[in-house]
Amino acid sequence: MFRTHTCGELNTSTIGQTTTLAGWLAKSRDLGGLTFIDLRDRYGLTQLTFNMDTDAALCQQARGLSREDVLQVTGTVRERENKNLKIPTGEIEIIVTELKVLNHSITPPFTIEEETDGGEDLRMKYRYLDLRRNIVREKLELRHRLATETRNYLNDQKFIEVETPVLIKSTPEGARDFVVPSRMNQGQFYALPQSPQTFKQLLMVAGFDRYYQLVKCFRDEDLRADRQPEFTQIDCEMAFVEREDILNLFEGMVKHLFKTVKGIDIPELPRITYADAMRLYGSDKPDTRFGMEFVELNEFVAGSEFGVFNTALSEGGKIIGICAKDCASYTRKQLDELTDWVRDPKRGMSGLIYARVEADGSVKSSVDKFFDQEKLQAWKAVCNAQPGDLILILAGLTDKTRNALGGLRLEMGQRLDLRDKTKFSALWVIDFPLVEWNEEDNRWYAMHHPFTSPHPEDIHLLDSNPAAIRANAYDMVINGWEIGGGSIRIHDRDLQSRNFQLLGFTEAEAQEKFGFLLDAFQYGAPPHGGIAFGFDRLCSLFGGADSIRDFIAFPKNNSGRDVMIDAPGPIDEKQRKELGL
Ligand code: AMO
Repeated sequence: MFRTHTCGELNTSTIGQTTTLAGWLAKSRDLGGLTFIDLRDRYGLTQLTFNMDTDAALCQQARGLSREDVLQVTGTVRERENKNLKIPTGEIEIIVTELKVLNHSITPPFTIEEETDGGEDLRMKYRYLDLRRNIVREKLELRHRLATETRNYLNDQKFIEVETPVLIKSTPEGARDFVVPSRMNQGQFYALPQSPQTFKQLLMVAGFDRYYQLVKCFRDEDLRADRQPEFTQIDCEMAFVEREDILNLFEGMVKHLFKTVKGIDIPELPRITYADAMRLYGSDKPDTRFGMEFVELNEFVAGSEFGVFNTALSEGGKIIGICAKDCASYTRKQLDELTDWVRDPKRGMSGLIYARVEADGSVKSSVDKFFDQEKLQAWKAVCNAQPGDLILILAGLTDKTRNALGGLRLEMGQRLDLRDKTKFSALWVIDFPLVEWNEEDNRWYAMHHPFTSPHPEDIHLLDSNPAAIRANAYDMVINGWEIGGGSIRIHDRDLQSRNFQLLGFTEAEAQEKFGFLLDAFQYGAPPHGGIAFGFDRLCSLFGGADSIRDFIAFPKNNSGRDVMIDAPGPIDEKQRKELGL
């Protein structure tokens, strides 16, 4: 037997036993007569003890070892004199009688400990060493638990996991495709799936009724902390359901995951329409761990001489405030910082207006010249501001102002420590617009994807007023992250054709790109709908991290490179020729 125990399981109940362990040398300390080695494996650390007096040769051998050497040792479990109660094996040590070096390690490029001296780039290049660190491995263990509980829940609900192909033709989900040249069909390309959307719909036509898959998806888009070019979805689809069925079933899934993996009971998920989310938070993925909701002030600012407000009013824009609790004491410098923040070209606002509520209840604002105390008191009342609070106001065109104030709200939430990583606030955002107009391309784009069904009551608007059509779509948002999104699908061939038409596809283009789906719809497509969760995001949310990268075994960096295997890279001339490139 290679080992009788792991490095994490011996304790005072096993004192006196003979044991054989195998693992990596994490650390050694030489105290003259005694040498200690911490042996590490996936399960923990165990202290090995070598005594010069009892076995000088063995002790000398132990002293000659280096970090990360792979060892097999046999010895007796003994109670330690100096106990370390911080680790489960900290009350015992192994008095080693046999030592075998299974493999040597050269000096690792960084220390493999909780607090490492290795920078991000180095750790990514030697990811297999980074993964030896407990805190990194624990993240993948969390991922495994979440995957297991996801499967448990969905299997219990009669879902079956079906694998869909990876070499497909492009499915439009709004990002660019990664493409793969075909050797056997020169000049032609496969696309890697941005999601298995059309396949899962075809599985519903096939009568599978409830499908899921933990599946790799590929999107060639600019990377951020919550985006990787290849990522994993919990992809699901159901037949003979309405929106309500899907929301209930997947709310159940997320509750199950919180309960089984984190031991938390989360309350029923509130539902908010897209329109309300934009109006109250300036975002379709509001972080609802804290309030600070928007207050529209248009009717409270009319009739002044203040140009910024008047321009916003005349352009049909908005004047919107948020109330930052206990921030009236903000200094000039802090307010200037916030002003610079909203003026950043990314946000593009011309300035920030503020109003402090003093201890006596009076209001002092940066626009006192234009508004008397009576007006300012009205702002205070509508913003529900109390003495000590600070009202921050932006004015301009509606979308831009909401977007900038949404960002400022998050920034204030951050500054005020309101975005506690151990708190979870989940909700559904529903009734997204079906389409959005793109000024550059002069055409409508699907807000979700082209297979999303319009709200039944809004179908009549398809030709007359597409902007006003609500989609039968929903997103699950947790702590300001879009964790999942889906919709009830179109299952009627004609409606699907009309939708393609609206999105600017000619009949021929629609047939060329999606003929297989339109054809399938003619053979008894059941009403169906589904959802996909961003599995990496879910893991990272559960792990309290900001980036999804740590929860992926071998992630890409921000330029989409795998620095460990050095990909992407060139291909040789012969390969290129074979592919006809
Ligand atoms: P959607 O495009 O909204 O929907 O994707 C579903 C979820 O996948 C996650 N996600 C990502 N995670 C990491 N990196 C990325 N680049 C990335 N892109 C998306 C998000 C998102 O909510 N086929 C539809 C689903 C459906 O309609 O059933 C789809 O893919 O958490």
